[in-house]
Amino acid sequence: MRHRVRSHHLSAPLGHANCLSLRLSNPAKDVSLTTLPRLVEARKVSMPKPVLSIIVASTRPGRAGLGIANWFHELALARGAFDVEFVDLAVLDLPLLNEPRQPVTRHYEFEHTKRWSTMVERADAFVFVMPEYNHSYNAALKNALDYLYHEWRDKPVGLVGYGGGALGARAIEAIKPVLTALGLNYAGELSISLARSPVIDDVFSNDAQLDARADSLLSELDFATAVWRDARLARDAHVN
Ligand SMILES: Cc1cc2nc3c(=O)[nH]c(=O)nc-3n(C[C@H](O)[C@H](O)[C@H](O)COP(=O)(O)O)c2cc1C
Repeated sequence: MRHRVRSHHLSAPLGHANCLSLRLSNPAKDVSLTTLPRLVEARKVSMPKPVLSIIVASTRPGRAGLGIANWFHELALARGAFDVEFVDLAVLDLPLLNEPRQPVTRHYEFEHTKRWSTMVERADAFVFVMPEYNHSYNAALKNALDYLYHEWRDKPVGLVGYGGGALGARAIEAIKPVLTALGLNYAGELSISLARSPVIDDVFSNDAQLDARADSLLSELDFATAVWRDARLARDAHVN
């Protein structure tokens, strides 16, 4: 079985899709999909390319994250399966969460939140390119995640973590409970050692092995994106 979406919400491997039940973020709206593979293929033919948003989490001057994100962006574009958006949290420049109402109300006061909401809403899938800071991921990413709620739900995410000795693996582990809280669905990961593959002058020292691992993460995302886009359509049809 080649594809298995490692999701908090999918209750069975995709190869067993005939007996799959999709658990959506709101259990009241759960959908039973008995013809999932056929639906996925049909949607790929009839729908526009899904939007993949690559989010550069580090905001530091001289950050390694930009070089890694540029590399991943090029691979995603070359694959041709997505309309790829490149979102740099340093450019987005969100203040520390300052909305008076909780994100779950979807009632936003500030233009920066409305703009961020539109960007996340139009994405079908995400890649977080994130550093390991003190055995976790960085605060700017947590802040950006906390701003919104509904816009993240029932969408897949790939995690590209990087760092020193632990290769960003602790950042990847630390973010997983947060994904669950937001209804984001883990689609796979890639951890990178900056000691082995440094970023010099914004250029990442990639190699064939890293390219292959990135490509396999993109494959996982490609499949998971189609599945979750279908699930959201079915959910919305079910609700309306
Ligand atoms: C505040 C801070 C904390 C860090 N903590 C860790 C850590 O816990 N583990 C690790 O492997 N590297 C750690 N590092 C090293 C970073 O992974 C490395 O500097 C990397 O380049 C940071 O990503 P950035 O340059 O894109 O911001 C830390 C770096 C900073 C700035």
